[in-house]
Amino acid sequence: MNILVTGGAGFIGANFVYYELKNHPEDRIVCLDKLTYAGNLQTLDEALKQDNFRFVKGDIADRECVFKLFEEEKFDIVVNFAAESHVDRSVEDPGIFLKTNIIGTQTLMDAARKFGVRRYHQVSTDEVYGDLPLDRPDLFFTEETPIHTSSPYSASKASADLLVMAYARTFGLPVSITRCSNNYGPYHFPEKLIPLMISRALADESLPVYGKGENVRDWLYVEDHCSAIDLVIRKGKDGEIYNIGGHNERTNLQVVKTILKILGKDESLITYVTDRPGHDMRYAIDPTKIHNELGWLPETTFDEGIKKTVQWYLDNEPWWKNILEGDYQNYFERMYSGR
Ligand code: NAD
Ligand code: TYD
Repeated sequence: MNILVTGGAGFIGANFVYYELKNHPEDRIVCLDKLTYAGNLQTLDEALKQDNFRFVKGDIADRECVFKLFEEEKFDIVVNFAAESHVDRSVEDPGIFLKTNIIGTQTLMDAARKFGVRRYHQVSTDEVYGDLPLDRPDLFFTEETPIHTSSPYSASKASADLLVMAYARTFGLPVSITRCSNNYGPYHFPEKLIPLMISRALADESLPVYGKGENVRDWLYVEDHCSAIDLVIRKGKDGEIYNIGGHNERTNLQVVKTILKILGKDESLITYVTDRPGHDMRYAIDPTKIHNELGWLPETTFDEGIKKTVQWYLDNEPWWKNILEGDYQNYFERMYSGR
């Protein structure tokens, strides 16, 4: 099969490229990525050495580029990871989130309609469901939970999901959607909580925890997300939405303290900073549907995964130091100074 992976130079997309090359060497993978600040071609170095992998630099919202690529490649499956993905950046400047996350999705689906695909798969997020209260640990997001977004990021992802379902019903496009909880693991961009805290703790820099650090996220090791998407695109039903998560809920403070413990660093590095506007309290996925229908189960517990992740950042310093030395410095200054 010929599979288009958009956003494959980013965190989850790159992990998915490697997952597919390893588990389905008979398939061909084409990666379309705009290489924004979050995309890193170095991440794909090993993939670029393989004959069944092609990289194309381009924007998913650029119709000419997308249509030309679909005409050339005659894709069987499209997996759309490409997105602006950071909530804090969406608070700073929502416009690009609407363009990439909504118009980009429309452009890919228009090309999929014109040239025909077996499946268009949208990689979505649990953030489309909004948040859950801290005092109701019995509540979880199911696929029936109403969409109720908080940030420009989640609103743009929810808009894209609605469009995907509309294309399925109106045009009969064979689609699927997965909504996953927070991922962590190798190649995670150091603006996100876990890699930010690892890289700063290693440099003995302050660790900016928003508000009281009580917010809860449901962490999934990235390879488990990849195995779930792989199952859905090959065995999932057309027109279905699948939630992905592994019941690994932790408060932000628990996550940061775990990282400090693994690194042997002092908790005095923790600094409480002004909260994120509209900050979602708790995310928690009910993964019963994907388990019952497709037999998916995560393999990595949080305690194992966080150790592996810290070790990966220790072993791959040049990868993240390169990023920290670039334009990222301006971002950190803008986002955190005087907070
Ligand atoms: P990321 O920010 O690390 O990577 C995004 C990639 O998309 C980058 O390589 C970037 O260059 C590329 N890109 C951005 N705009 C583009 C455009 N217009 N055209 C082509 N390429 C473009 O993101 P991530 O964390 O890997 O997330 C991937 C997907 O998974 C996103 O759709 C996100 O909403 C979803 N998701 C992420 C998480 C998480 O915890 N990170 C959880 C659930 C769902
Ligand atoms: P993040 O990694 O940005 O993912 P998301 O907002 O999509 O869940 O943040 C995870 C949690 O960590 C979220 O509750 C915000 C919090 N956070 C901090 O406390 N400090 C930080 O510097 C960052 C980036 C996030």
